[in-house]
Amino acid sequence: MTDPRPIGVFDSGVGGLTVLREVIRRLPGESTIYLGDNARAPYGTRTDDEVRAFAIESLDALVARDVKAVVVACNTSTAVALGDLRRRADLPILGVIRPGATSAALASRNRRVGVIGTPATIRSHAYFSAIKDENPAVEVYEHATPAFVPMVEAGDLSGPRVEDAVRDGLAPLLGERDASGEFIFPLPPSAKIDTLLLGCTHYPLLRPVIEAVAGNEIAIVDSASATASALAELLSINGLESPAGVPAGHVQLTTGDVTGFRRIAERMFGEAFPDVAGVELGAAA
Ligand code: DGL
Repeated sequence: MTDPRPIGVFDSGVGGLTVLREVIRRLPGESTIYLGDNARAPYGTRTDDEVRAFAIESLDALVARDVKAVVVACNTSTAVALGDLRRRADLPILGVIRPGATSAALASRNRRVGVIGTPATIRSHAYFSAIKDENPAVEVYEHATPAFVPMVEAGDLSGPRVEDAVRDGLAPLLGERDASGEFIFPLPPSAKIDTLLLGCTHYPLLRPVIEAVAGNEIAIVDSASATASALAELLSINGLESPAGVPAGHVQLTTGDVTGFRRIAERMFGEAFPDVAGVELGAAA
């Protein structure tokens, strides 16, 4: 059995493009429809009820466009609403938390994993539970970094202001560096993480800065490639793979500014994004 329909992918904004990039790389024969709710980002500082309502609107918009499966390329929506989304629609829906948690648990040698994410994701402790499910011996240190998503949505991915914000955001997990660049750990040595999980799909866009701040003794892990692999398995299990020889098409929809969305997408993928269109969700639709 095969199915030529597109895969739906959604996020609060441009962050889910980091997952889309891996999906297209891993599954080049599949078509996609990406939906970014940029007009209402960030989600991570909103209430759970708001996140749930917005995620449902994105799901409904993709289902109305006849997608065959949905990737919730947003940790916040996955943490808060995955169960509600799965109860609502009769199609396979994949979140990003379990794949990311599995990768982090497998990457850590000293069994100490730091997780950064939005306030809503960290408040849910979804990563704590998922990593413990994978390996109960792993210690999980969760920390919210609310300054990161607004910077990424504004297209600020590098420079001194971003470096300062990343250094401040990571300090509670890494400790401070002294003038010579050595870490002074205000944390007990037992809390010294060897793996940092980027628990928000916007954060891989800051990866070069995060890597520079974290140093080369800490492995940086995100959900994107593990989610793409889980999607490949999901399509295969459900007989939903695209038939060979059908050309793949990719469309992106945003509730925000089309030009701004296109600019950041082109910067990320290094290619033209001719098919970005505006869309309205919820009360505005
Ligand atoms: N990229 C999303 C996530 O993975 C949402 C970020 C936000 O809008 O706060 O959590």
